Amino acid sequence: MKIVVVEPGMFGVESCRAFLILAGAFPAPVLGLPTGKTPVPLYETLRERSLLGEISLARFAAPFAIDEYGVSDPFHPCANRAFFPRYWDSIPETTPVRQFDPAASDREAEAGRMAGEIAAAGGLDLAVLGIGLNGHLAFNEPGSERSAGTRVVELSPESRSAAARCFGEVTPAWGLTLGLKELLGAKRVLLLANGGAKAAIMARALEGDVGPECPASFLREHADVTVLLDADAARLLSH
Ligand code: PGA
Repeated sequence: MKIVVVEPGMFGVESCRAFLILAGAFPAPVLGLPTGKTPVPLYETLRERSLLGEISLARFAAPFAIDEYGVSDPFHPCANRAFFPRYWDSIPETTPVRQFDPAASDREAEAGRMAGEIAAAGGLDLAVLGIGLNGHLAFNEPGSERSAGTRVVELSPESRSAAARCFGEVTPAWGLTLGLKELLGAKRVLLLANGGAKAAIMARALEGDVGPECPASFLREHADVTVLLDADAARLLSH
């Protein structure tokens, strides 16, 4: 595991650099992409550099969303389906992110569809991940086994309270998520974390026990993980 602590103000630039290096090993990378606050500087830097003509994401033609909120309106402004058009699909030359449809009549079948598409693409080459305050990866909440596949899940109180930032009082009770099986099956993983609120969970994930109570801890058993942190999120790491 490679752990990189970035200089203040450099999170976007450094996460963009890490993303391009890690994905650059694959001719047509199959990507797992996150939503949330953490990856916004990455997507904004990718867009800026694309608009300047410094980089092209044309060959990044197989991007998959890693999770989705359980909303009955697929156009809900807080759904991840609203996030990617803004932050990824708007980058010149990109292929739109393939997403879960939370309004699908058969949710389990919808999870199976995404798992099938990823398997048909040969599995993920690079999974880009954030981490929840409870150690979740995508919506693999505490208690998720390493072998858990893509599925419908009940959202934890921590995830619902984070969702309240956008949803307000009525937060989704369930979600759709790629499984730890698919995420840990990625050939490479880039885990991003910034801000002091993430310091305790990063210490637990990187230095505590490995197990389902902190799903992100399973990353320590993966052969090719890069963790990119700012100094605030790295504050409680012992080395
Ligand atoms: P955040 O979410 O980037 O908004 O903190 C991360 C996560 O829950 O995985």
